[in-house]
Amino acid sequence: MVKPKILGKILYDYEQIQERAKEIAAQIDKDYEGENLILLCTLKGSVLWFSDILKYMEIDCKIDFVSASSYGSATSTSGVVKISLDPNINMYNSHVLVVEDIVDSGTTLKYLMGKLEERGPKSVKVCTMLNKEARRTVDFHADYVGFEIDDLFVIGYGLDYDQRLRGLPYISYLEENDVEEL
Ligand code: IMP
Ligand code: MG
Repeated sequence: MVKPKILGKILYDYEQIQERAKEIAAQIDKDYEGENLILLCTLKGSVLWFSDILKYMEIDCKIDFVSASSYGSATSTSGVVKISLDPNINMYNSHVLVVEDIVDSGTTLKYLMGKLEERGPKSVKVCTMLNKEARRTVDFHADYVGFEIDDLFVIGYGLDYDQRLRGLPYISYLEENDVEEL
């Protein structure tokens, strides 16, 4: 099966995402200058956004990966957070910046941040590509936000629909009739 050229309504195209990633990388450069930094990629949804931030940053850092999810399949959340891949890097004496694809209810990140804090880093902050503030059910604040979006189900640029469509080079949102096409 090939990727659909255009699926759903495009919110941000490749160029817009690159521009924003450059701006955020420059801000991270300023904020963490002279510090030990670990950039932590949340699998799987953040791979593209994470690599953009990493690529555009001028300061050096260590990287690691974590997999935590609160989603079941397709578009509904199960509410239960499970960590299926734990980073083994030593966080003591380093700042940790979690790079996330999207913050929705905030459940996943709130849980993950708590777990990371237990490992004694100097700080834990979050850089998310997308933020759906209207959907928040827990008290959670993202430190760096690529784009604020409305309550829409989005796909592409790492984000999936039932594990598919992560490779689309843009972020779009799906409506009922788009889903029937899949
Ligand atoms: P939260 O715990 O409710 O904040 O859920 C965050 C996770 O749900 C994200 O990391 C995504 O994996 C997934 N998610 C939330 N909204 C969307 C969406 O619109 N499209 C695709 N995945 C989403
Ligand atoms: Mg995620």
